[in-house]
Amino acid sequence: NRTIYTAGRPPWYNCAGQQVEPFVIGICGGSASGKTTVAEKIIESLDVPWVTLLSMDCFYKILNEKQHEQALINEYNFDHPDAFDIELLLDVLTKLKEGRKVEVPVYNFVTHGRESQTKTMYGANVIIFEGILTFHSPEVLKLLDMKIFVDTDPDIRLARRLKRDISQRGRDLKGVLKQYLNMVKPSYCNYIAPTMAHADIIVPRGGENKVAIHLIVQHVHTQLQLRGFKLRETLANSYKDQPMP
Ligand code: CTP
Repeated sequence: NRTIYTAGRPPWYNCAGQQVEPFVIGICGGSASGKTTVAEKIIESLDVPWVTLLSMDCFYKILNEKQHEQALINEYNFDHPDAFDIELLLDVLTKLKEGRKVEVPVYNFVTHGRESQTKTMYGANVIIFEGILTFHSPEVLKLLDMKIFVDTDPDIRLARRLKRDISQRGRDLKGVLKQYLNMVKPSYCNYIAPTMAHADIIVPRGGENKVAIHLIVQHVHTQLQLRGFKLRETLANSYKDQPMP
């Protein structure tokens, strides 16, 4: 029953002319836990064509004037499930899974809003969807073929967040701490940490955990092969010869 992909751009078809579903990986974890690094390491090690990375940040709702004022004084809760447009997210993820082209909003953390231009994304062999609340919606959970939770020490996450928000997101020390203590930390405990129960794999320490990345990549390769994706010969051979890192 093995099928082989025909060459060409997504959507992908097998020899029987059937469209092949992409493999969707969900990556969840607290703010600054290293979700993006884990995603990038997976992409690097996967070495398959057409891997798409979608961030939940793209789906932050557009703020009204009052909410924007709250955001400017670090009093808007960006860590609550209601801060995200789940309907739009579901629509985009469903279309990507069907191999269709989508327009994804581009989010700006400095202005707390969407950019005027969007980013065009295409269906792929592997779709990685990362964010703080990727496991919150039951409808979104159903679309994920593999669920990874990145579990990084809270002190390390806070230290990273301080550095990042001040250097890249236009914030100051006092504001970052106010937002962290009043909203980021409580929301992590109330909404994010409980979703760890949905995870297939929990990755301690994030992107530096080479063994975890290796195991994840092996699983994805197996799943792709089962769906008819032909691994490059060199990659397939490397499994025979190389010990685990
Ligand atoms: N956030 C913010 N201001 C906004 C929108 C979001 O401060 N206008 C914050 C939220 O408080 C939330 C965080 O952004 O906690 C979500 O981004 P995060 O997960 O920290 O970013 P990533 O780069 O995806 O994290 P990682 O280091 O895990 O890759």
